[in-house]
Amino acid sequence: MENFQYHNPTKLIFGKGQLEALQTEIPNYGKNVLLLYGGGSIKRSGLYDQVMRHLNEIDATVVELSGVEPNPRLTTVNKGIELVKEHNVDLILAVGGGSVIDCAKAIAAGAHYDGDVWDIVTKKAPVQSAVPIGTVLTLAATGSEMNGGSVITNWEQNDKRAFGSIYTYPKFSILDPQLTFSVPRDQTVYGTVDIMSHVFEQYFHGSENAPLQERIGESILRTMIEIAPKLMDDLENYEYREVMMLNGTFALNGTLSMGVKTDWATHMIEHAVSAVHDIPHGGGLAILFPHWMAFVAEQKPEKVAQLGVRVFDIDPEGKSEADIATETIRALRDFWNSIGAPVALSDYDIDDKELELMAERAMVAETLGNYVKLTKEDVTDILRRSL
Ligand code: NZQ
Ligand code: ZN
Repeated sequence: MENFQYHNPTKLIFGKGQLEALQTEIPNYGKNVLLLYGGGSIKRSGLYDQVMRHLNEIDATVVELSGVEPNPRLTTVNKGIELVKEHNVDLILAVGGGSVIDCAKAIAAGAHYDGDVWDIVTKKAPVQSAVPIGTVLTLAATGSEMNGGSVITNWEQNDKRAFGSIYTYPKFSILDPQLTFSVPRDQTVYGTVDIMSHVFEQYFHGSENAPLQERIGESILRTMIEIAPKLMDDLENYEYREVMMLNGTFALNGTLSMGVKTDWATHMIEHAVSAVHDIPHGGGLAILFPHWMAFVAEQKPEKVAQLGVRVFDIDPEGKSEADIATETIRALRDFWNSIGAPVALSDYDIDDKELELMAERAMVAETLGNYVKLTKEDVTDILRRSL
């Protein structure tokens, strides 16, 4: 393992009816609240009214910013920063999925920074402090509720970038699985793919001797494979929703990345595809990950084979690692197909026209990844296989 320090300051408040914890948590930070939400799902579900009731109970002064886009945009972040400054906001309350929470993190860091917040997102400027954030999660997928990461799109420049800081971890996150009952089937598929992909990004690391982290990752994968098909047929099942929610949080709260050099190449490639074509993150990952796996297995099949034996129950008897890896990738594709995930970029009407631009945007460093280091040519190859 590599040397590491681990510190996760987010307080998780998990289970049925936990929304009322807003009344005990928020006063710890002050009365001026920026309520941030997306395109209206929280109004349709009635959650907005419930949140407002709790905020009224504690006499909070509430300013609202709605319409945070899936793949949240820099323009919205800038609107939020202005509101925080104008209204002296003490706490940003993000009610929604990963996009709303990520937007809250960029607003929180940007409001404490004198220059352009895009400098923070592109990591040209370090985060030195941030407005406190609380979250009410409505969609299990990104893990943003218990990490410091945020992904923001600069649509004008077709650029989607991730930054992270210890200051942008939510102070508290309320996770009531009932609030995810209304997540439609397609978003539930994307969430499943995203959770599994987060495990892959850390499972395929460039370090040695991390059996505990790998076994925890395998548990998350096996659990998702077990429950996701049942959940797709029963979207309001509390037991499946609660399992998915906790899996989503654990897949990206730092547990799996302790002591290992994680990969993240596929996420960088997906962010580039989304930056140019604005497709759902989980949909992009479902298309790209099997192709990434096939590409790296040509050089290093061993970890792909391990995944197949331990997670997809592939019988290794008498087979080469390369053969097991091929079977693993087929099993993964079959599983994602079975729940209705997209398979090719053409499913989103994406052709080879902007392949170069996407490959260029993906290259946030000289090479991508730590399991196998990818050059821009390799990335172009993976994108071409994904068409
Ligand atoms: O905007 P509203 O109306 O709320 O609708 C949303 C949105 O259309 C809807 N939705 C959310 N909760 C719902 C619901 N609909 C009905 N009932 C509910 N309870 O779902 C749609 C998608 O929401 P979004 O927040 O965009 O999805 P997700 O949570 O998958 O977040 C995706 C974003 O997170 C980034 C992605 O790149 C993408 O921009 N990521 C963030 C990460 C992080 N911070 O750690 C890591 C991830 O790898 C990822 O890159
Ligand atoms: Zn992701």
